[in-house]
Amino acid sequence: MITSNQIREKYLNFFEKKGSVIIPPAPLVLENDPTTLFTSSGMQPLVPYLMGEKHPMGKRLVDYQPSIRTVDIDEVGDNRHLTYFEMLGNWSLGDYFKKEQLSWIWEFLTKELELPKEKLYVSFFEGSLEVPEDTESFNIWKSLGLSDDHIFSYGVDKNWWSRSGTPNQMPEGEIGGPDSEIFFEFDSIKHDKKFGEKCHPNCDCGRFLEIGNSVFIQYRKKADGSLEELPQKNVDFGGGLERISAALNNNPDVFKTDIFNKTINKLEEITNSTYEKNIKNFRIIADHLRASEALTKNGVVPSNKQQGYILRRLIRKIATKLNNFELLTKNKVILEELVKFKSTLEKGLKEVEKIEKINGKLAFDLYQTYGFPIELTIELFEEKGQKVDMKEFKKEFEKHKEMSRSTSVGMFKGGLADHNEETTKLHTATHVLHASLREILGNGVTQKGSHITSERLRFDFSYPEKLTDEELEKVEELMNKQINSSLPISFSEMSLNEAKSLGALHFFDGKYGEKVKVYSIGDFSREVCGGPHVGNTNELGRAKIIKQEKVGSGVVRIYLKLAQNGH
Ligand code: ALA
Repeated sequence: MITSNQIREKYLNFFEKKGSVIIPPAPLVLENDPTTLFTSSGMQPLVPYLMGEKHPMGKRLVDYQPSIRTVDIDEVGDNRHLTYFEMLGNWSLGDYFKKEQLSWIWEFLTKELELPKEKLYVSFFEGSLEVPEDTESFNIWKSLGLSDDHIFSYGVDKNWWSRSGTPNQMPEGEIGGPDSEIFFEFDSIKHDKKFGEKCHPNCDCGRFLEIGNSVFIQYRKKADGSLEELPQKNVDFGGGLERISAALNNNPDVFKTDIFNKTINKLEEITNSTYEKNIKNFRIIADHLRASEALTKNGVVPSNKQQGYILRRLIRKIATKLNNFELLTKNKVILEELVKFKSTLEKGLKEVEKIEKINGKLAFDLYQTYGFPIELTIELFEEKGQKVDMKEFKKEFEKHKEMSRSTSVGMFKGGLADHNEETTKLHTATHVLHASLREILGNGVTQKGSHITSERLRFDFSYPEKLTDEELEKVEELMNKQINSSLPISFSEMSLNEAKSLGALHFFDGKYGEKVKVYSIGDFSREVCGGPHVGNTNELGRAKIIKQEKVGSGVVRIYLKLAQNGH
């Protein structure tokens, strides 16, 4: 039986033979990308190159990319969804295109891995108002010997790929294109008519599993909502290592592959039970443990915010599902969080005792604040002869989900919550702070992230330790000196390369298209940025650093407010 490690190795070797250079995987948390929490696909770290920037390793690349998709968290527990997965990727940056890509991936799956041809199905883009039907891919599949009943076409919902979804959902500047997916058929699964009269590759009955996707990234969204052709035609292939393993196993359950074997065995041992009897819980535990271990290895620590919050949620979820969690892992960060959670849980139990009459909102609060699983709450209150209003609980849950969804959409759009006067001022203050820090502490300082509310600015930057009081004072002083010098703020548009040659700071390449805006604050600061900014530094008032903290190794965080002059 071929192992997942062997599949990965075969894949890299295969594409290397086709002239691709093997590139190392990017970290799970992208250092210079404040717009997303995690690397969620192989193409994400390569966005600038798909847009036309030259990649130092050439135009043909191949890799495997560990990825986290938090949108899938609630689906974990079935036989195929994972929070953490490994994506086998290959890219053409304006080099080979559909013909080579589809023939090569077909060759890899059928010759190299020897998957039976008759079990493989493919799809192509049926066309939309703006983008024509992908008859080219159809013809290529035909020429590779696939019969008509193994080739299907779908619209933008299934055969279009961008990080944000269909063309309508793509924000300005986002790239994407039609794609062609490959599915494996598990004939042991009988079609269930509950999912539709006839079965087909995108049917949800479980008979088909998508194992790979070739995206033809050739479009970019314009400000007027239309799509324009990119200067180059790209290929972005992503194949799920766990799913390809499942196909080779001829078993649709990814948890039955060697990737999860060890954990599942251990779970059976420590619970003295079987996978079959605990199928959903074991899957959730195995997935969440793998994701948590990967996150801690990438330097994430449990916290109440962002990446740390996701890690905390994953660990706590396992803890509520497994009594002797500490027997499952030796990971120190996870075990420490477990101890914290147990004390939180105790506090939660005390809160529970105080509740005389449970309702949906209270049950949600317990879930939200103490990580109390709803099943536990139901059980506790069942003893008291009380029922949790699940309708109300779900309503609260949806409300919260809606809120966090709009927060992450806001994040994607570029970090600024809104464009009111205060946030615009703080945005300009970000540039002044960045330049001041570099002047006082040296050019080793680079921005790691920022977040603005109408109240304050939070700024993360690389620096080995907290600043001394004296340094903080100097930074604040220099900022206010620049503010009081009434420096005008202006911008000009140029290519990213020109901006770089001018020495403009550009802390996140991935977001920018071909032309970028460079904002200058007098001669004091020059940064690539989308704006908006105030017209003159004298509009800022007085800058005041209100807090600093160390947020990780080599990263310091500063909070800053603007006060009206004279205050
Ligand atoms: N970027 C494509 C995906 O993530 C391959 O599915």
